[in-house]
Amino acid sequence: MEIHVVLIGFLLSHANLVLADFTYEGLHGPQHWGKDYDECVGKHQSPINIEEHIVKNISLPKLELLELDSQRDFYIENNGHTVMLKINSTKRPSIIGGPLGSHEYVFEQLHFHWGANDHEGSEDLINNHSFAMELHVVFYKKTYKSLQEAIHHSDGLTVLAYFFEASDDDNHNYASIIDSLPDIEAVGSSTSLRNQHVMEEMLLPNPSVLQDYFTYNGSLTTPPCSEVVTWIDFKEPLRLSHNQIAAFRNVHSPDGKLLHNFRPIQPLEDRVVYHNIPLPEDNSHNADGSGQSRLHPSFPFALGAVLFTTHHGMCAYCINFLSVFR
Ligand SMILES: *[C@@H]1O[C@H](CO)[C@@H](O)[C@H](O)[C@H]1NC(C)=O
Ligand SMILES: *[C@@H]1O[C@H](CO)[C@@H](O)[C@H](O)[C@H]1NC(C)=O
Ligand SMILES: *[C@@H]1O[C@H](CO)[C@@H](O)[C@H](O)[C@H]1NC(C)=O
Ligand SMILES: *[C@@H]1O[C@H](CO)[C@@H](O)[C@H](O)[C@H]1NC(C)=O
Repeated sequence: MEIHVVLIGFLLSHANLVLADFTYEGLHGPQHWGKDYDECVGKHQSPINIEEHIVKNISLPKLELLELDSQRDFYIENNGHTVMLKINSTKRPSIIGGPLGSHEYVFEQLHFHWGANDHEGSEDLINNHSFAMELHVVFYKKTYKSLQEAIHHSDGLTVLAYFFEASDDDNHNYASIIDSLPDIEAVGSSTSLRNQHVMEEMLLPNPSVLQDYFTYNGSLTTPPCSEVVTWIDFKEPLRLSHNQIAAFRNVHSPDGKLLHNFRPIQPLEDRVVYHNIPLPEDNSHNADGSGQSRLHPSFPFALGAVLFTTHHGMCAYCINFLSVFR
């Protein structure tokens, strides 16, 4: 009963969401989204081309992903537009710092954008370069309590964007999600994912990636194109093999194989794109990869980190680990 009430409320407040579906080509393709969704023709849309020679350098507080490694169940679904990973548990990872300052944003879902070949697929471009794929990790501002509420506020969402280049070698951090793609080729299908570490493997391949990013204010890249997103685009691309990328092209949309699902770039207009330059102390920590020197000298704290480092042979999880003790 309660579910029905919530659902009807959602449908009423998002009436345009159910009136028209969108696609990536044809009569409901990106050029036509503005007919059904006013915000898609706004002045602060995403994606954009990021020109490195005009970005402004800035040094923001450290960006921190919290609670990435807690035990929880995931499921992955094909919604006809993309492949999306969600969490069953109400205890979710969150993000703080960087352009978000002290405001905490809570994980909602992550999904992928790809192209018909390895030379296209990303949504944002860097110096006109299109990457083979892009991962979007969507968070809503905790004070708004839900994604549905957050998209009505200009500071409602933040999205982490990871770019991918094609390579010859498989990236094992993405194996569990890619292995489940054959199970969700049909629109509307889903499957559960039991790998509890999938998020830390995907999002924290090494700690230095996390502080080197571009940030700007933009929109959702799909209808309703709400201009409520603080974008955080990691500069260093990750790698997936040609075969891993090709697996996404077997996923179906209602019109057949979903060969590409990226929106073309939109005008920058009056916006400024910033490039975060980590402060020197962060650089020194990242350079040796140990993370040890950033530790607070309190005993249990340091001991925990040593044990942790020993177990994993590296400190890729230290950022997350430290947050547990705050
Ligand atoms: C911004 O930072 C980059 C990388 O550290 C550097 O190469 C560039 O010269 C800086 N730009 C300005 C305008 O300071
Ligand atoms: C997680 O939620 C999905 C969608 O509601 C459901 O299909 C799946 O069975 C759930 N998985 C677990 C392990 O609870
Ligand atoms: C990107 O393409 C535009 C339009 O062709 C061009 O004006 C611009 O100089 C290019 N930028 C770079 C970094 O190559
Ligand atoms: C981005 O939007 C937020 C929320 O509206 C605002 O506080 C912030 O100043 C904007 N940042 C930039 C770089 O325009």
